[in-house]
Order: sequence, then C-alpha cells, then structure tokens
Amino acid sequence: MKYPLTPLITVHMGAVLLAIASALPAFCAAQNPASFSLSTKTFRMDYSVAKDGSLQCAMKKPDGSGDLPVGGQVFPARTVKDNSGNTHDQRYSGPVIATSANGGNFPELVYKSHTVTQQSANVEHATVVLCDATTPLRVELHVRAYKEESIIEQWTTLTNHTDKTVFVERLDSAFLQSQTGNNTYLEWFDCREGNEAGRPEREKLSKGLRILESRHGNRHTTGPEPFFTLGFGALPEEGKVPCLVSALSWSGSTRLSFEINDLNILEVSCGVNQPRPVPVDPGKSMTSPEFVYSFSEAGKGPASRNFHRWMRRYGMRDGNRLRLVDNNSWEGCGMNVTEQSVIEMMKMSAELGIELYVMDDGWFGNGNNARSNDSAGLGDWQLNRQRFPNGLDPLLKAGKENHIEFGIWFEPEMINPNSDLFVKHPEWVMRIPGHDLVLRRNQAVLDLANPEVQDFMYHAVADVLSTYPGIRFVKWDANSSINNPYSPFLGPDRQGEMLNRYMAGYYGVMEKLVTTFPKVDFQACAAGGGRADIGALKSNHTFWPSDNTHPGYRLGAIWNFTTCMPALAPTCHVTHAGGEFRPKYRFDIAMMGQLGMEVDPRKSSADYLAASKVGIAAYKSVREIVQFGDQYRHQSPFDSATPSLNYVSAEQNRAVILAYQTGDLKQPRTVASPVSGLDLARNYRVAEINLPPGDDNPRLAPCAKQVQTGSEWMEQGIPLVFTRAFDSAAVTLEAVK
Ligand code: DGJ
Repeated sequence: MKYPLTPLITVHMGAVLLAIASALPAFCAAQNPASFSLSTKTFRMDYSVAKDGSLQCAMKKPDGSGDLPVGGQVFPARTVKDNSGNTHDQRYSGPVIATSANGGNFPELVYKSHTVTQQSANVEHATVVLCDATTPLRVELHVRAYKEESIIEQWTTLTNHTDKTVFVERLDSAFLQSQTGNNTYLEWFDCREGNEAGRPEREKLSKGLRILESRHGNRHTTGPEPFFTLGFGALPEEGKVPCLVSALSWSGSTRLSFEINDLNILEVSCGVNQPRPVPVDPGKSMTSPEFVYSFSEAGKGPASRNFHRWMRRYGMRDGNRLRLVDNNSWEGCGMNVTEQSVIEMMKMSAELGIELYVMDDGWFGNGNNARSNDSAGLGDWQLNRQRFPNGLDPLLKAGKENHIEFGIWFEPEMINPNSDLFVKHPEWVMRIPGHDLVLRRNQAVLDLANPEVQDFMYHAVADVLSTYPGIRFVKWDANSSINNPYSPFLGPDRQGEMLNRYMAGYYGVMEKLVTTFPKVDFQACAAGGGRADIGALKSNHTFWPSDNTHPGYRLGAIWNFTTCMPALAPTCHVTHAGGEFRPKYRFDIAMMGQLGMEVDPRKSSADYLAASKVGIAAYKSVREIVQFGDQYRHQSPFDSATPSLNYVSAEQNRAVILAYQTGDLKQPRTVASPVSGLDLARNYRVAEINLPPGDDNPRLAPCAKQVQTGSEWMEQGIPLVFTRAFDSAAVTLEAVK
C-alpha cells in the first residue's frame, strides 16, 4: 500500500527546479506526442495527445474495441472545437485553478512527456507530465490501473517552477468527460449526522452545473459522502446499465461537480473543497488525494465488487484480517464506565460469544476535569484514578480469563476548555484571532497543522498502548468540525494550507500508530459516520457508520455504504434502539457487515441475551464469507419491501443469503429470494441459521429442496416464507459432493 498521497505540501529541491524553470521555452515544448493504454480486466483507458498538445483519454473494451462512455480531454481548455470545427467558449474555471504572480489563474496544460511502469504483475502506473503554455507550472497526472480488480486510481500533483508563490484554489484529483451528456444519471449519498448515507439521492443530470460540497473541514457531517455512482443512459441498476462507481480518498471537505456543458458533454470534476487558495512556494508541490473508480457495462453490482476486492487488497488496513465480534459500552452505559462495571460487562459479553469489549468514552480526566459528561476532560488522556484505581490491568486480566479482547476509545483531535491541556497549551487550539471560540459538544479542535500537536496526539494513544500491550483495538472519534478555521501555528499568511496540513496531520499520526502497533485494530469514527470514507480506511480497519442504530435506518445505510466499502469495513452494532424490533431482525441486518453489539448486558432481558447468543454464533459461522467473499445486492430496501443480498466465498463453495421483509404484513408472504455468484454445476445444500430459542417458525419454506445445483438455485431462488412485519431470514448454501 502506498502512503501518503494526501494533499501534503512537499518540499522539493527548490534550486534545481528553479534552474529548470528558467529555461521556459524548452521546458514547455511538447515532446514527441505519444499514446499509451492502461488495461484492466473489464475495460481499458487509452491516452493520446491531440495536435494542440492537449491530453485526451478514451475508455474502451479490454481488446481496444468500442468506445465506452468515459472519454475526452483530461484537462479542459478555455475553448473547444465541436465536430464541425467551430470554436466554443468554454470556461474560466476547471479542475486546476492556480493564480501565479502574473495574475493568470487557469493553466492551459500541454503534454510534455510520460512514463508507464509495471509496478507488479497486477499494477501499472502512468505518470504524465504537462505544463502551462506560458507559466512554468508543471502538473503531473498519475494514473494507476489494477488489472484484476478493474480499478483505476488517479491523482494530480502541481509543482511551482515560477519564482513567486502560486495560490492554488483547486487541484482536483480527476476530471472525466462523457458524451452521454444529459442522458446521465447520478446516485449519491447525503451524510447528515444521524442519517449518514440513509438513502440514495437519484437524479438525471441536466444542463448546467451541479455542485455537491461538504464544508466542515475534518469530517463529513453535511453534504455528500465522498463516493457516487453514474449511470450512463439510465439510473444505475445492480445488473444492468453501464455504471461508474467512484470514490475520493479523503476524509475532509469535498467538492464533486457535474456539469453538462453547452455541447451536451458531461464533465465530472472531483477533489478537495479548499476553504481558501493554498499557497505553494517556488520549487514546492501540492498533491491531490486519490480518486478511485471502476466501470462495468453490467451495472453497479460488478463495479462495487471490484471496489470491495480492491479495498481489501490495496485500499484498506489489513483487508485480509478477520474482524472480531465486539460489544461497545457507549449505547449501553454512556460514560458510566468503572473497573467493576467494565469487568462485569466483559464477562457477560464473553458468555454471549463476543470476542472484543470496547470501553468507549468516560475513562479519562481527573479532578474537576474528570470525564463524567461531555463538558470536560478531552485532552487529558490519563486514566480516571477514581474509576480505575488499579489502571487497566484488572480489565486486561479479566479479558484473558474470559477469552475476550479489550479495546479503548480516544478522541485525540479534540479539547474541552475544561481540561488541564487547555490551561497548559492554549496555543494548540484552533481559534480565529479576536473571535469567540465556537464550541460544538463543549469542545474545540486542536491545531493538527502543528507538529507538536501531532506529536502530542500520537503519544496520547501510543503511551496507553505501550503501557498496556494487551489492548487489541482503538476507536478514534472526532466530534467537532473545524468551526474555528484558523491554525495559530500557520499564522496569518499561510492559512490557505490549513485544511491540507490538518488532514496530513491526522493521516500521518494514524499511519504512525498503525505501523507501530500492527496488532491493534483501529476504527474511524467522527460523531458517528463522519469518516465513512475510503481515505480513513487506509489506516483504519473499520468505520463506525452512524450513531443511529435503528434497524430500519441501518439496513439502508449499510446497503448504501457497500457501494464502495467491503463488508468487513462498516461496523454494524445490534442495540436496543427502535425498541419494537426483534433481536433476530437486528442480527440479520448486522450480519451485512462487521457484526457487533452496543448493549449493557446487565440491563438486557434473558430472552434478548439468548437470542444474541444465537445471532453471534450464526454470524461467526458465516463471517468469513461475509467479510472476504463477493457480495451480490439484489432488490434494494429503497425499491422493495423484500430486499435481499447474498455473499459467496472466493472458492464458491459457501454462500449466505440475507433476506428481509420490511414493513407491515397482513398475510404470509412467499418469496423466491435471488442468489448469484454460485458455481453453476456444483451441488449446494441449503440450511437456515439464526433461529433464536422460541422462534419455531423457519423462514425457509417447507417445500425447499435440500440440495440443488448452483444453476438451479440461481434460477429458482431460495423459497422463503415471511409471516410477520419486519421479518428476516439468514440461509446458507454449502457445496456438497
Ligand atoms: C460519538 C460516537 O459516534 C459514539 O459512538 C460514541 O463514541 C460517542 N461519540 C462518545 O462520546
């Protein structure tokens, strides 16, 4: 895995680059225009240089035949010619906007050279160098093709070869065009807190510019999730309609724009939503985050599966490591965590089959700043001596005795004014000079642009992990956006760098932690799902999708996150939220991802606990298929009252089908629940799992054949009978001789 490719301001050998920059005409003269292709299993990208020096791309079938929907100029020009040779006015805007000392702000990028290197049998990397026709600004476009996974990953680097600072307003990671124009459909997901990716937003793109922006700086709490699907010619569907699934590897403010220009060409531009222009000094560079996409002629389902495979292999931390079944203290007991209560909950959790107990908020801070509610303690990452007089050793010992791992919560980017840290280091707090400090949940944000703060954050976590090497898991939360957007460390002249340096600080500390503590699993959280993005997963094993754990919301949200996230990434907690729902229904929904719980077992009924034990055992029996297999989504919960999906192991010898009956039911409902991805010729035996004690009502229809070939199961589906509202079924297929 490569790292970091975040918008770091990187320092180059300024003198050498400046020397090159002074020889402007030769530097910018296009060298022998050349063409090259990057191939994946299901499509390829052809790049070529037009007579005017502009870089062009075209998506083709793998054998080079047939134009697929994406293609056109890679960086737009101010004017374009249509097919009849007429010149059309284009723009004063584009994916690269950089104002240099002469006042020009729109580089006209001309091809200079390229290299293509084979990084491994599976990965090719192209670097294309372009430069502005008049100003020595150099842009590198990096494109990587992952053959097996049919994934393209690309990013942009801008280097300033002028002798004055350049101000970069926009450096997008990707600019893609499509001739499908206003016959293109967009599916995107809003990330409002408590309803993160709660439903798909679907629209036909029409003339003009559609901009989706998030603006909260360090996380996504309003605006778009940084991923979307385009359907070319029709709304995206699972198994038909050519679709592009894409995601920006970025946990901060994002800008996604979709424009149908006056020639009816779709232009998509994606990148960081910079709050203000970024100063890039002579000889220095700035790099965009990666934009990742996959295309499938056969719908969004195959494109999502490409993403899942790629994420597990390249895009996320330890994508081949089994995720444990956890129980988190938060929903069950809030901040009331003590040595005794946690040990009790650990023991009871272990009896249910839970493998990891996570102690959430409330364990730190002392004296007046003890964390007993959200008004104090953030920043003081020392154990609360009253609650944990013997440190964490008794908890880790109880974990060993009861065969359950232990994990702990942190929120290192944040500070409460009621903390020792605030008194000691007021200069570490982000705050606009002369303005009141705006608090959110009684907390402010630390200045992560400051290396001292980065060091502090690293040690806040690392010291606890080093003192207690038995800790297996860290949840990293972030409950405030950058509401005071000013970095005291950067000072008045460099505020344009604030967001990039903040995010580089976060990613850098995370990366250092995961590499120093390779056995610890990390979870990205930001007031729920504010970091449900592929950027955060580079150094995290899972993400917490939302504080909303109501099963009705959860089914749709996890479904939506699987647009680009593999099933082992979203943590799916069974709770008591939405009181009326039966545990079976909750568990069958949580089985879609990394299953866990968020309950205080001391307060849960015997029936609930008995059903939980069965649900956990059922999940464990199939979790390798869920976490590492291929996922096939069928009818979606937004279009059907009987949504379902199935997972198939890589060897195609095991499958699990999860099917739901959402909403009311007047009389029993029979469905043939679809299955995909089986080996046509193999025989598979069917079985139902997750039937809790007292539930003597199998969902697998009595008429179901016990053994059939893959082809028969896929043709006929799994016969199920639902007899009540909000019902569900979990069924396995095992290959037999
Ligand atoms: C917000 C998170 O989303 C919750 O899961 C929990 O960790 C709380 N913060 C703790 O303050």
